[in-house]
Amino acid sequence: MCGIFGVISSREVAPLILDGLKKLEYRGYDSAGLATIQYSKNTQLGELFTRKAKGKLINLSNLIKKQSIQGHLGIGHTRWATHGKPNEKNAHPHLDFTGQIAVVQNGIIENYNDLAKSLELKGIKFTSETDTEIIPHLIALEIENLLDKGLMTNGATLLSAVQKVLSLLEGIYSIAVVWSKAPDVLVVARRQAPLVLGFGEGEFFCASDTSALVGLTHTFLPLKDNEVALLTRLGIELYDENGNRQHRAPSLLKGTELFADKRNFRHFMLKEIYEQPETAQLWIDRYMPSDFLSDHSIAFPIKKSTLEKIDQIQILACGTSRHAAMVGAYLLEQFAGVPTTVYFASEFRYSPPPVSPNTLTIGVSQSGETADTLAALRMEKVRRDSIKDPNFSFHQLGITNRLDSSLARELDNVMDIGSGIEIGVAATKTFLGQMLSFYGLAILFASNKQTRPTQEILDLSNDLRLVPKQLLDLIKQHDALSKEIAHLFTETKDVIFLGRGINYPIALEGALKLKEISYIHAQGYPAGELKHGPIALIDQHVPVISIAVPGVVYEKVLSNSQEAKARDARLIGVAPDGPESAMFDELFSIPKVSEWVSPLLTVIPLQLFSYHIAAHKGLDVDQPRNLAKSVTVE
Ligand code: AGP
Repeated sequence: MCGIFGVISSREVAPLILDGLKKLEYRGYDSAGLATIQYSKNTQLGELFTRKAKGKLINLSNLIKKQSIQGHLGIGHTRWATHGKPNEKNAHPHLDFTGQIAVVQNGIIENYNDLAKSLELKGIKFTSETDTEIIPHLIALEIENLLDKGLMTNGATLLSAVQKVLSLLEGIYSIAVVWSKAPDVLVVARRQAPLVLGFGEGEFFCASDTSALVGLTHTFLPLKDNEVALLTRLGIELYDENGNRQHRAPSLLKGTELFADKRNFRHFMLKEIYEQPETAQLWIDRYMPSDFLSDHSIAFPIKKSTLEKIDQIQILACGTSRHAAMVGAYLLEQFAGVPTTVYFASEFRYSPPPVSPNTLTIGVSQSGETADTLAALRMEKVRRDSIKDPNFSFHQLGITNRLDSSLARELDNVMDIGSGIEIGVAATKTFLGQMLSFYGLAILFASNKQTRPTQEILDLSNDLRLVPKQLLDLIKQHDALSKEIAHLFTETKDVIFLGRGINYPIALEGALKLKEISYIHAQGYPAGELKHGPIALIDQHVPVISIAVPGVVYEKVLSNSQEAKARDARLIGVAPDGPESAMFDELFSIPKVSEWVSPLLTVIPLQLFSYHIAAHKGLDVDQPRNLAKSVTVE
């Protein structure tokens, strides 16, 4: 999982590439590199230059300040290591054995071992441990072959060579290739990994994500699976996998202009936590206008006739998105009465349940690029399509923050959570957006299937409308409190989060946030499970954070919390202020709301708690070690 960027222009491209990579750095930041081709009018040939640096992009920028690099054509890469350690040797771009071809890749070449062996037998020596390095070598051999057959040294030959090599590769990838002997073309391709093309004025781009195009162009075109494109200064030629020329109109960039301004916040994560009241309000205005119960077609992407056919729901997701899905499953089952199961997308693909009729499959992914989720959804579609029974209905829905993503392109029905670009690797505002989308779906199912009295549906809708204001107050209050107590936890090694019912997923999410950015081991448990084993871990060094909201499991959670306190745990409550909350050593108080909407609020102190511990420890909150914003490898 990496970010790639390429450009052909009449300007110097190194600053453009660095700028593009900066916007893609959330995809990986183990190392970065770029290659440019400098054209010589005398020889009418190009010369290939590369610069690479281990670690974040800033190291590459600093290197280029000392060792500048020229050229009007270039490619860049920001890496999240899969094959080979995150060092300079393994940083992209990778070169062929002649030193004339440079390639950047995002993805995994699954048959690289076999291909590498065949290249070694031909005497080719590898300089890195990556799967990518086979690609430039294979292209170089294919070019030799084509030149022997009489083809010219030009961009068309590079294109043919790349097309041939792609047919040898197995896996998921997007690539960008330059060849010093064809100093006026850039060749790019994709199979399942994302790649978009950008149309500027006399300059053209490729990037893993539209965010990298902001400020450069308003016009973009997502490359389809197995397509190859040839970028020159005059335009872009598009080819399908059989080499047939394709013609498609580009689209206009929307929304992404909001990208990446930290404003006065120290970190993107804090800014994004603070954006939640606004994004919740936007979601409510869009999906819950006053007449949405009588005419839900206003915004929801599921037709009434489809809703009636759905007897059960399965949800596929990873990480934080899976936690939102778990809140969703609770609502869909307990509020709307629709049997719902949540699966780890990475597990579903290899052990799916038997295919059942009249099922809605929901894929939840903030980025819409998570390989595990996409692979599970694709596999499920193949399974479903193979059933020819006309009474067997199958429906898919995607819930994502990125309408320009693979998930949004591949599914027929997509719900845009509309949270705006999230840069912090730890998801916060998009988790809220995903949960809200499930509230919308639960209300939709409950009202259409009439599984809840109308008054209860109205009550939930009205409670949701109060959430943005409640979030505003909560964030202010808990930002200050978390900051004040963060220093008490900097030496902590383990934390236990307890929740139950609809707040059990919030315990999991609280633990995930703490692990991700504070590097503190944390585990979320359904509070009732504590006594079945995890209680053995508890002593005065293991704080217990307990989410206790009045409702069906309130008293039970309070008793489970008492059990932890009796074993000397420092007890932190996420609960309404009241006589019962006196048991907590620290209290993150939340307003007295209905249990149904409580997860939208209980998660806030947990986000802020993790944030302030990480910030207090001086950790890289927005780009935690070993992680990337979108995990595009399985
Ligand atoms: C969230 O804080 C994490 N960075 C991670 O668990 C994330 O939710 C997961 O990788 C799924 O990503 P997606 O929503 O883009 O599919």
